[in-house]
Amino acid sequence: MNLDITGRNAVVTGGASGIGAAVVRLLQEEGAKVSCWDLVVSDQACHSVAVDIAQLDQVEAAWQETEAHLGPVSILVHAAAIGSGHFGFPYTNIPMSAWSRLFDVNVMGMVNVAHVAGPAMSNRRQGAMVFISSVAGQIGSQTDPPYSASKAANINFAQCMAKDLAASGVRVNTVCPGMVRTPLNRSVWQAWADQQPQEQRLTYEQWGDEKVGRMVPLGRWQSPEDIASTVVFLCSERASEITGQTINVDGGFVMHW
Ligand SMILES: NC(=O)c1ccc[n+]([C@@H]2O[C@H](COP(=O)([O-])OP(=O)(O)OC[C@H]3O[C@@H](n4cnc5c(N)ncnc54)[C@H](O)[C@@H]3O)[C@@H](O)[C@H]2O)c1
Repeated sequence: MNLDITGRNAVVTGGASGIGAAVVRLLQEEGAKVSCWDLVVSDQACHSVAVDIAQLDQVEAAWQETEAHLGPVSILVHAAAIGSGHFGFPYTNIPMSAWSRLFDVNVMGMVNVAHVAGPAMSNRRQGAMVFISSVAGQIGSQTDPPYSASKAANINFAQCMAKDLAASGVRVNTVCPGMVRTPLNRSVWQAWADQQPQEQRLTYEQWGDEKVGRMVPLGRWQSPEDIASTVVFLCSERASEITGQTINVDGGFVMHW
């Protein structure tokens, strides 16, 4: 299938690691020019900007710098996010300061990116955005309640944006990964493991395999590349009639039936 994105300019936030890095690679394979935004300059072979997405002035400057370098951006993939790093149940275990930092990054980071990309794409009447949420955003996950709540906010705000921007031909969708081996996923295990008595602790692999085996119909982890395939499809002209949707790439973990 020809995705027809050769020569398009794309921004990938959180592109230095995990799922974002896989999206950078696949967009490049498909012929797009990519700018990777992350806290540190990426070592990938692409345009790269160091930016904290929680800071609106940095996001505005990154957009200007990217468009000056690449030209008009018509694809945005927003993957940057954090977990609280705390054991999530009961939710009162989580210090209030962790809630506010997480919401600054996971919710306001999305809002900041939306405020630069939305008007620019809307004025040019061309663009596609994909926000990476999570299955945790749909099920009230006890593992990390602030993370779960922030990911629900991502889904909801992406729907608001999709409605706002549809008249100008800009599409907005959300992809929800299930379980993917990345530093963020590992940090969730670490917070859990730190609370367990030494003799009951599982390794990261054992913890993940047990969770996947118990909860996921297809019975396996997802890879960063599994997520990237759906993301890049949604960015492409092949998905031109898809907007405002929440697509789970999770081995069937979340099913509405
Ligand atoms: N790994 C999973 O199992 C899983 C499951 C569901 C959803 N997700 C989502 O997928 C997305 C990517 O996560 P990942 O698992 O690849 O994690 P990751 O930790 O590998 O990558 C996240 C990237 O975001 C960057 N980042 C964090 N805070 C930032 C900030 N303030 N400004 C700029 N960049 C920042 C990090 O530096 C990192 O490179 C996230 O939105 C996450 O919520 C992951």
